[in-house]
Amino acid sequence: MDVIYSKQEIAHLPYRNSSLNIEKRVEDLFKRLTLDEKIRLLSGHRVFNTAPIKRVGLERLRMTDGPFGVSMHSSGLSKNTRFPSTKALAASWNRDLAKDLGIAIAEEVRALGRHILLSPGINIDRTPLNGRTFEYFGEDPYLVKELAIPFVKGVQDQHVGACVKHYVANNQEVLRKVINAEIDERTLHEIYLRAFEEVIKDANPYSVMTCFNKVNGTYGSDHQYLLKEILYEKWGFEGFVVSDWGATNHEELTTKSCLRAGLSLEMPSGKKYTKKLLHESLSNGEIKEEWIDNAVRRILLIAGKTGVFNDPETLPVGSRNTPEHQFLAREVAEEGMVLLKNNGILPLDIESISSIAVLGPNSNRKFGKLLYGGSSAVKSPYEVTPLEGIKNYIPPEVKITQDPSKTDIALLFLGLNHDKAGGRREFVIGSMRKNNKEIRHGFDSEGADRAELELPKSQIDLIKSTVKQNPNTVVVLINGSPLGMKDWLEKVPAVLEAWYGGMEAGNAIARVLFGDVNPSGKLPITFPNLLSDSPAHNSQRSYPGDLDELKVSYDEGIYIGYRHFEKFDINPLFPFGFGLSYTTFSYDNLSLDKSVLNGLNDSLYLSVELKNTGDRSGAEIIQVYAHHTNPKVDRPLKELVGFEKVYLKSKEKKTVKIRINGKDLAYYDVEIHDWKLDAGEIKLLIGSSSQDIYLEQMISYS
Ligand code: GLC
Repeated sequence: MDVIYSKQEIAHLPYRNSSLNIEKRVEDLFKRLTLDEKIRLLSGHRVFNTAPIKRVGLERLRMTDGPFGVSMHSSGLSKNTRFPSTKALAASWNRDLAKDLGIAIAEEVRALGRHILLSPGINIDRTPLNGRTFEYFGEDPYLVKELAIPFVKGVQDQHVGACVKHYVANNQEVLRKVINAEIDERTLHEIYLRAFEEVIKDANPYSVMTCFNKVNGTYGSDHQYLLKEILYEKWGFEGFVVSDWGATNHEELTTKSCLRAGLSLEMPSGKKYTKKLLHESLSNGEIKEEWIDNAVRRILLIAGKTGVFNDPETLPVGSRNTPEHQFLAREVAEEGMVLLKNNGILPLDIESISSIAVLGPNSNRKFGKLLYGGSSAVKSPYEVTPLEGIKNYIPPEVKITQDPSKTDIALLFLGLNHDKAGGRREFVIGSMRKNNKEIRHGFDSEGADRAELELPKSQIDLIKSTVKQNPNTVVVLINGSPLGMKDWLEKVPAVLEAWYGGMEAGNAIARVLFGDVNPSGKLPITFPNLLSDSPAHNSQRSYPGDLDELKVSYDEGIYIGYRHFEKFDINPLFPFGFGLSYTTFSYDNLSLDKSVLNGLNDSLYLSVELKNTGDRSGAEIIQVYAHHTNPKVDRPLKELVGFEKVYLKSKEKKTVKIRINGKDLAYYDVEIHDWKLDAGEIKLLIGSSSQDIYLEQMISYS
């Protein structure tokens, strides 16, 4: 007979004693659980929680989306601060801002009584058409990990758990629930697993979410190699592995295959981890009870670390939609904006303007709606559109019109949104195949990929017609993924990439356009001239894949993003790391504290003197790329291995130190199944983008 505890007894059980260490508390609780109670903890309860076990007083572990704020659908339809999309954060190249954002979102999670934030999404951008590009950081694993690590630390400093996702190679939404990503071992580790490895080793996230797709023939949720061998045994991951929602719903997956591989928690509910199936598998010897115990212990460990064992009133109360969070939302939007083109028309001088035309489908669009774009959607208490931001900024005597022919300036707010291509407000649940043909295309949205690289024709026509009426036409893009511009770029004097900038976007855009803020963002993803220039778009089999075999072949290997464009000498529209400023910078006096690295764990410091040579204060992102002069294996011509963001007043100069780690120079050697750096010479290339290199420095590895 199971012991029945009174409320008083529960309150005094050792697992509720926060003065004990967490392992002791977990063990105390664990030993009190019956087998059926353990089984109940292995699958979800009411979509976003684990089940409460009332007999021992165990509360639910509660999870919520998403990457840029607490999503409405997973938090009781609450309205919360809608921060800018992850692409904007990535374009800021600001580690401190990433940490601040992690802290702020965790405060909102805590305020809503949740324990796990289902974020960050750290999948690599392989194709510009991926519907979830706006939710991910970019194409370079080094940049991804350098920003995801502080984000996760920020979240978990608040005793809220982060959940890095989607493990791994969820790089397209087309057929996401059934597609098999065929990836060679070196590419898998060097490109797609690398950010997961570094984040897990450095930031110790409390959970990892498996991908929907297969990797090399096996679904992410019962992938023995990815989960048991790599995540647990090789990397020493201590948290729990949660399936993506519905990702275990396949015939091929079994209770045994999932549990043996190491899936801890099946969400949103049991398909494979039902009481019946688990008892059957135990009694027929297919599974061991210790596999159940391992999964339960991992879940309890994180429940303990995130306060589930504590009385809720003893936990930090958190905060939502505070002035601090609103300010941060604007700051991330401002720092993430990338000035792509400017003939000098920007910044706008408000003193010399008497009227402004504000046009375009994104000039007054609100993006924060329930499930708009998918699970990352955040509905905020308010949302400042560009039109509202301009109105907030300009003095009353400046007029806003819709007629560009008579105004000093025309501002065109264009880009994409989260609708399906047909404009239907449908949240496409997982692009499924129909009679092997239908593949749904949307814009920037979970569950669908974009259909093309270019802007919708109606927007291109609007650009051309507006420029005809007023050459002083500035294009502001509000989108989450690269756009082609071949039909119109040379016609306009300026283009500002503003991404999906959250609820303060309009104010941020106005402050950048009028020069209160000097844009400092750099592209975290290459903007190609043509889709066919992109590495994944070499053939149908490499994207969207062979629809009969349901297989997408990563034929490009490690050559994704700028690695590909550099190797094949293809000129992108705008290169990785590119972004203009309202001021200029000079790079001088490069030096090293040493020039030889010994071992992967060794590092050196590079110093460069940066000067703001213009007449406005501003920030520059100094980037360091490595070029192996005589590599023993095939290596990209350039790989990002360091960066620092530096703020300087006009004419100010500063010597900036940038750490270069041996591990970041390594490649994944499939002979030893590990990272390796061959002895040899390495040329460090220092500049303001992957293509704008100003200084070089040789180092070597012995
Ligand atoms: C969705 C998404 C995932 C999200 C989860 C919960 O399918 O793929 O990113 O966190 O379900 O909403």
